[in-house]
This record gives sequence, C-alpha cells and structure tokens, in this order.
Amino acid sequence: MFTTALAQRDNTQLGALPRDLFAAIESLKKELNAVILAHYYQEPDIQDIADFIGDSLQLANAAAKTHADVIVFAGVHFMAETAKILNPDKLVLLPDLTAGCSLADSCPPQDFADFKAAHPGHLVISYINCSAEIKAMSDIICTSSNAVKIVQQIPKEQPIIFAPDRNLGRYVMEQTKRDLVLWQGSCIVHETFSEKKMVQLKIAHPQAEAIAHPECETSVLRHASFIGSTAALLKYCQESPTKEFIVATEPGIIHQMQKLAPHKQFIPAPPMNNCNCNECPFMRLNTLEKLYLAMKNRAPEITMSEEIRLAALRPMQRMLEMSV
Ligand code: 13P
Ligand code: SF4
Repeated sequence: MFTTALAQRDNTQLGALPRDLFAAIESLKKELNAVILAHYYQEPDIQDIADFIGDSLQLANAAAKTHADVIVFAGVHFMAETAKILNPDKLVLLPDLTAGCSLADSCPPQDFADFKAAHPGHLVISYINCSAEIKAMSDIICTSSNAVKIVQQIPKEQPIIFAPDRNLGRYVMEQTKRDLVLWQGSCIVHETFSEKKMVQLKIAHPQAEAIAHPECETSVLRHASFIGSTAALLKYCQESPTKEFIVATEPGIIHQMQKLAPHKQFIPAPPMNNCNCNECPFMRLNTLEKLYLAMKNRAPEITMSEEIRLAALRPMQRMLEMSV
C-alpha cells in the first residue's frame, strides 16, 4: 500500500529520468515481460512505443489474449480496469491513476442501481466506457464497434436499458430501429464539437468528407458521411478514395491516420470555443515519462475486489462471444 502511494507520487513528480526514454522503456519491457497497450487517443510518442494500438474493443481483445506478465495500459482507468477484469493474475499498470473518463463518471453506481430497479425486466447493455461496478450490474458490455451488432442479436420483445452514453444509445436506436431506455450520460470531448463550425469547415473544404464517432451529438453526426469507432474511422480513411477528411473525434487518432495515409489531409473537427477541448484531458494525463516510471516502480497498479471482478467478467465475456 505504502509502496504504491510512494510510487504514485513519484510518477507525478517525475524525478530523475533516463536520457533516452524510448530505450529505457524497451529495456523495462523485456525485464518485466510487459506488453504496452495504447488507445488511439494517446499522445504520438506513446502510440509509437506501444506494442499494440487499438480502439476499445481491439484493446479488450488484446488484453484477453496476451501472454505477458505485466500489462501497461496507456489509456484511461476504465480501460485498464477492463484489462484487469480479464487478467486477475497479471499486474496491470496505468501510468496516471487519475486518468478517468467523464462518460464513466456520468454513471455513478448507486444512481444506476436505482435506475435499474425502476426498470424491472430490462436487459442491461452497457458501453465499455463505465466503471467495473456498472459492468457488474450489466448483462452485456458493448463498445462503439459492436453496439449495433449486439443490440441486433437481442430478441425484439426484450426491453433494453442502454448505458451510459446517450449519444451512442441514440445512434444505436436509429440503426436498429429499436426503442432503448437510455441513461443520460455523455463524453465531454465528443459533445464539444460545434455543428455550426463543422458546416463552415465543410463549406471551406468542399472536397472533404466529414467522419464522426458515434459518441458525438446527432447535430454533428448528421453532417458525417461515415460514423464509426476509432478503428473503423481509421480503416475508412485508408480505404476511401477521398483525399481530405474532417475528423469529429479526439484528434489523437490523426497520428495513425497520417501514418497510414501520408498523402491525405486530416482536419480535426472544431470545438465550440477556441479551446483544446476536443483533446481528452484524461487520456492526455498519460505521458511517456509517467509510462516509464510506472514500469520502473511497478505502480500505480489497478486493483478491485474479486466479487466485482467476477460480476463484471460475465457481461464482458458475453460481449467477446457476441462480437466474433
Ligand atoms: P472507441 O475506442 O470504441 O472508438 O471509443 C472511443 C472512446 O471514447 C474511448 O474512450
Ligand atoms: Fe472518456 Fe470521452 Fe475521454 Fe473517451 S474521449 S476517455 S469517452 S472523456
């Protein structure tokens, strides 16, 4: 306990660091038999040192399959928690333990338990962007890659609660033509895009195609010619003959877009104000320095009670089975 607290403090104080962080991280990777899993919203340096980069579903699959002893999760808390749910015997490290998620936070467990109790007979499908406690209260987990596919597999007469993202929920309702009871949560990053500025940008770049993540509001989604998870957006940009894209999701993804299609142009969709609020402040808490220190100190570590883990594992496994 004391060691973890001490190490956490060190990770934010960033004491003495090696000159070549990349080399030091590579060497710790071998020493620990560690794998670095990174989300597309991480800063470019972290994406470049990662063993695997992906969207939430790809990362959950990678975490389920890894043979490494240590998982270093370069993402946010609920993602590292998911890796721990799938790997109780592995050490799961998160470079900054305070890297949370506004969407996960918009669904407090006690309030959700009351909501569930108010809707008896409903199947609970929860977006992976939620805490282990919410997962433990769910029947099936989904991600933005498989939400539509999972809802389509549920018999039509079965009522469903969809939590916590109202925007993804609305999008799934539209795609499946089903009525879902939505928890009213949202992501501060994806709700920051401005419809007005998006339209102005489309006028200024008439050849560009607008693409968006389904966590965006309907007013933004209606201007997109393609909607998908981060991995789906990346694939679409590579395969489409279009040379210019307006990208309505966290701009961290543009690093991979640019790498995979260097001859194309990617324009981040503009936020409401002249701020950087389209960058996820939680994802950006992880840095290469903190990642190095987490590996060196073997902390901060993700832990949870076995009772919650087992309850959260069941809907996670259902998702993995239903999305093959
Ligand atoms: P995906 O990884 O499913 O695209 O979700 C994006 C996101 O907001 C992760 O926090
Ligand atoms: Fe959460 Fe939104 Fe950040 Fe994803 S982008 S981690 S949903 S706050």
